[in-house]
Amino acid sequence: MGIVEALPHIKLQGKEAFAAMRKAGALTALALDEVLPLVRAGTPTQAIDDFFMAFAEKHHVLPATLNYRGYRKACCISLNHVVCHGIPGEKPLHEGDIVNIDLTLIVDGWHGDSSRMYAVGDISRAAERLVDVTYESMMRGIAAVMPGGYLGDIGFAIQTYAEAERCSVVRDFCGHGLGQVFHDHPNILHYGKRGEGAKLKPGMIFTIEPMINLGKASVKILSDGWTAVTRDKSLSAQFEHTVGVTETGVEIFTLSPGGHHRPHFKI
Ligand code: MF3
Ligand code: CO
Ligand code: CO
Repeated sequence: MGIVEALPHIKLQGKEAFAAMRKAGALTALALDEVLPLVRAGTPTQAIDDFFMAFAEKHHVLPATLNYRGYRKACCISLNHVVCHGIPGEKPLHEGDIVNIDLTLIVDGWHGDSSRMYAVGDISRAAERLVDVTYESMMRGIAAVMPGGYLGDIGFAIQTYAEAERCSVVRDFCGHGLGQVFHDHPNILHYGKRGEGAKLKPGMIFTIEPMINLGKASVKILSDGWTAVTRDKSLSAQFEHTVGVTETGVEIFTLSPGGHHRPHFKI
């Protein structure tokens, strides 16, 4: 009686919500597949944003970032040492760039949020390794999601792997609960300790979206108020999936329908 909960309630969603998230996640993933041919040298990143605007219009859905807290684009595009929230513009992509494209589509009121790395032509071995480590970090974080586990298990899985690979985990941004709200409780930290934080329960829906740097973890925000870059100018990568906790484990809502989970590197 009279005791205030220290942590806000984490929503537990039912069958209908999961069906709606499947639809929102699938459409977001399809858009990230279909943009692939545009990710080549010479393409201004604004052309990618235009593509998503047209895609959203065609499918009668809305990009969640448009007019979100003053943001004016359909997606975020973050190149090389940009950690996240890069703003699309007229500068073209260059051979050797590594590119994160982050898209959230609102389908029937439900948010599907995902990002992937793309490679422009041939990229350096260091860049390839970072992209591989980042993808594996996200997948290890997802594999830690199961009912009875803890939020801290996710961060622990990501951090221990990324740091063993001599990379660093960005602390300034985190994953988030979502559903009919874009950024909801809980925060999903990409670092942490096993067994810490809230207990995972079937019906929880959130993103896992680690940002991993080749150099140090610290970031700064550019004067546009959005673009986050590594302070040491080292390369940064990110992948993001929207997932739900099921009775037996985890469901990924934003899997690529075409199998374009990550860039394909030549051996
Ligand atoms: N899609 C981003 C995320 O993963 C949020 C971008 S908000 C914006 O949560 F305003 F920067 F676009
Ligand atoms: Co997100
Ligand atoms: Co996102």
